[in-house]
Amino acid sequence: MALNTRPLHPLFGAEILGVDVTRVDDATFAEIVAAFNEHSVLLFRGQSLTDEQQIAFSERFGPLEVTIRSINSQPRTLPQIADLANVDAEGQIIPKGDRRNLFNAGNQMWHTDSSFKRVPALASLLSGREVPPQGGETQWASMRVAWARLSPELQAQLEGKVAIHSFAYSRGLVGGDLLPPEHAAQVPPVPQAMVRVNPANGRKGYYVASHACEIVGMPTAEARLLIRELLERATRPDLVYTHRWRVGDLVMWDNRCMLHRGRPWDESRYRRVMHRTTVAGEGPTAPHLPDAVVCPASEDDLAWCRAQLEMAIGEEALEPSRPASESPEGAQSPAAAARSPRPSRRPPAPQSARRPARPARRRASPPSA
Ligand code: SIN
Repeated sequence: MALNTRPLHPLFGAEILGVDVTRVDDATFAEIVAAFNEHSVLLFRGQSLTDEQQIAFSERFGPLEVTIRSINSQPRTLPQIADLANVDAEGQIIPKGDRRNLFNAGNQMWHTDSSFKRVPALASLLSGREVPPQGGETQWASMRVAWARLSPELQAQLEGKVAIHSFAYSRGLVGGDLLPPEHAAQVPPVPQAMVRVNPANGRKGYYVASHACEIVGMPTAEARLLIRELLERATRPDLVYTHRWRVGDLVMWDNRCMLHRGRPWDESRYRRVMHRTTVAGEGPTAPHLPDAVVCPASEDDLAWCRAQLEMAIGEEALEPSRPASESPEGAQSPAAAARSPRPSRRPPAPQSARRPARPARRRASPPSA
């Protein structure tokens, strides 16, 4: 049976019609894998899944990651389920400005799942269990599409380069106390190849994310400018697919080449419960570096983060709630990091080498189109 599909975006993504993911035979599954490699994002509507059913379908793509321990860890969910919800273990809406929501708001920066792990994720499957009537969309953008639009010179510049990805760095941009030392210790900075090839079809894409904070052999400020430029090139509005969730939607995507981010919603008013399973990748993308060094965030880095976070919370919620001296390595409070950067092995680039910071937005923007 040939899969019945319809495009989600002119450049990537497909809705798979007429498939119940709890009843997929091997021949259909092989077509879904082919569609995944071709389209990078697949939408299955009308899948009202239990966690066990979601895990069973996801495991057909490969072994699943277990979620790292965080301030959002919920005893109620299985370890293979990342519970991205603004409700607590008792099912109550988490109050506005709570650091658990702030932690989840880090997903509103463009990223690719688990690029901060030595073996980054192959695929993620996100199931809409409870969705707000407005806002709370998820957006995707393709680094494969963006790669094809780079000049040959820039492509050549990226080939063979390795970036350092750090979860402590990226969550530290959002808030200084979101990753206590025992949690940061689970995710030390890791190297990732900046150009990746899908072995199924040979198609290349570049590979960056909000977690990327250094490029091996390049001064930090220059590296961060390049990373931002690559993110911005990939996420131009006309290159982005915005998904408005319905309960029962299951979206899976290829983390090797896709960026994604969640969008804000009125989180003190509406429940949003999303369950994600994450299929582990096949292996590391870059050789091990024994001591990857991550320089603290600069004022520019913080302004860039804030410009991305169009969150339904006040700016006061982004302020550090404890002194930087108590923060773990790499998760130093962003404001403090910008005021008094820790010594690093690489001197920061002069201010003149940096792009001017964009103005921070203080309040939530309307739901994105
Ligand atoms: C994620 O970043 O994996 C989830 C994004 C979302 O909550 O829409």
